[in-house]
Amino acid sequence: MNKTLRKAVIAGNWKMNKTPSEAKELLTQIAPLVKDAQCEVVACVPYVDLAVAVEACKGTNIKIGAENAHWEEKGAFTGEISTGMLKEAGVEYVVLGHSERRQYFGETDETVNKRTKAVLKAGLKAIVCVGELLWERECGITEEVVARQIKLDLFDVSAEELKNVIIAYEPVWAIGTGKTATAYQAEEVCSFIRAVLAKLYGKEAADGVTIQYGGSMNDANAAELLSKEDVDGGLIGGASLVAEKFAAIVAAANA
Ligand code: 13P
Repeated sequence: MNKTLRKAVIAGNWKMNKTPSEAKELLTQIAPLVKDAQCEVVACVPYVDLAVAVEACKGTNIKIGAENAHWEEKGAFTGEISTGMLKEAGVEYVVLGHSERRQYFGETDETVNKRTKAVLKAGLKAIVCVGELLWERECGITEEVVARQIKLDLFDVSAEELKNVIIAYEPVWAIGTGKTATAYQAEEVCSFIRAVLAKLYGKEAADGVTIQYGGSMNDANAAELLSKEDVDGGLIGGASLVAEKFAAIVAAANA
């Protein structure tokens, strides 16, 4: 992390976990443990948990995020949620292009780009996820894959809008597998992402972008990952569902 240049952000991505009552319980446990955090603390929760989550986090330093958003303001899009709905619910962050959406729900760079632009236009903060598959890493094309995703997902996003973008580097082979990228591997790709951003937006703008690592990040490995210059935070799945583990990662970001 380089806290002089950019904000550290630790965000939980709860995925399809926790009912509203369970969400309330978990956030109530997390809140006192992270109350003195110097970094931004975010919980991205399932849609039906949003109302309870926003209520439970009133008066705390925990911000609430959603796990996706549609690009249209309204209309015949069964099962989708608009940015206006999220804003009114009190959401501040939206996860976009998560590999699970790309893998299981037909998300493409084109739809990630549309969603990202809509989220930014609505004044919400976008957490845009990129990352390579295992065989792409083995084929030696990690940088190509990630650069392509960054360029396409941020197409037509202005330098001003970039201020509300967080990039989450999530190597797909590290998600939910217990296989964390080494701190060296994480830094290698996060610094490469910053170089791609610098080509697109200039060095100063790129230096201001928070780049998170995600993929089996936990209380045991967070400190080492976060010690790297270009790893400015984490997007945490499994460990964000356990208050003490999530709080320990937040503490590692504070150190
Ligand atoms: P895990 O931390 O469970 O590997 O999930 C990472 C992730 O996908 C966060 O978005």
